[in-house]
Amino acid sequence: MGIVSGLDSHTIMYGVFGDPIHHSRSPIMLNRAFRESGLNAAYGAFHVKPDMLQNALQGVRGMQFGGVNVTIPHKVETMKWMDELDETAEAIGAVNTVVNKEGRLIGYNTDGIGYTRSLKEEVGQSIEGQHVAVIGAGGAARGVVYALLKEKAECVYILNRTVESAKNLATSMARFGNVVGMGLKEMDQIKNHVCILINTTSVGMHPHVEAMPVPIHCLHEGMTVSDIVYNPMKTQLLKCAESLGCTIHGGLGMFIYQGAYAFEYWTGMPAPVQAMRMEVEASLR
Ligand code: ATR
Repeated sequence: MGIVSGLDSHTIMYGVFGDPIHHSRSPIMLNRAFRESGLNAAYGAFHVKPDMLQNALQGVRGMQFGGVNVTIPHKVETMKWMDELDETAEAIGAVNTVVNKEGRLIGYNTDGIGYTRSLKEEVGQSIEGQHVAVIGAGGAARGVVYALLKEKAECVYILNRTVESAKNLATSMARFGNVVGMGLKEMDQIKNHVCILINTTSVGMHPHVEAMPVPIHCLHEGMTVSDIVYNPMKTQLLKCAESLGCTIHGGLGMFIYQGAYAFEYWTGMPAPVQAMRMEVEASLR
């Protein structure tokens, strides 16, 4: 399982650069996607230390890789070495996908748009015209807030433990739509008109599986509650939301669809999302 066969002298190479990297599920997911689509392509995981990032990206040009993903800790630094930045990467201030277009490296960020596509396709939740609460104001929140505003959310409330970071993020996203930064405690005041609540923090992630980013009284029936954490797949937040009758949405879809967009940018073909999901779910079982 997961082993690429049939590599030959025509195989187009892709991969992911990170430090650490050996936990990454991107290779099994993307190799499945290439096989499923009948492409002669292969995807590897490369342990790239921070002081080697420029060399590694130079290698993408030198060896004519089709493209790469970059992950922690390289998402911000990679911006420096791109020939061109897509609006997604520029707005978010980070790159997770590099396309090699005839030797020119173009940086994209598919995390946020992967998230909103997952929300729409997996639970059928529309975003346009909705009031959305985003918990957290870190790197993951940046992508999610950007994508929500591009999908024409009526208002995005960013709620964070450190109020200043929420306000700063809101200021930097204000050119894309209506967005307000506030403290986590202010959730009580807005909860009644919030239709979608999204946790972008690591609160509730293994091993602290009992933790909740907001107390249960902040949720109400009729809300869609979404968590970008996928370890565990059903966090305490989602369990509480489910018990109240909310629609729930887990974090695995964000990972799958960020990879789906990368596949589509590299190949120009629609991503075989179901097969990608099956491969990742099987690897987590
Ligand atoms: P990432 O890139 O994964 O988003 P990050 O940039 O370190 O990670 O951001 C982590 C986010 O989770 C921040 O919004 C952080 O809140 P602070 O800005 O107040 O630090 C939030 N976060 C992390 N642990 C938290 C906790 N125990 N309670 C509340 N918020 C937490």
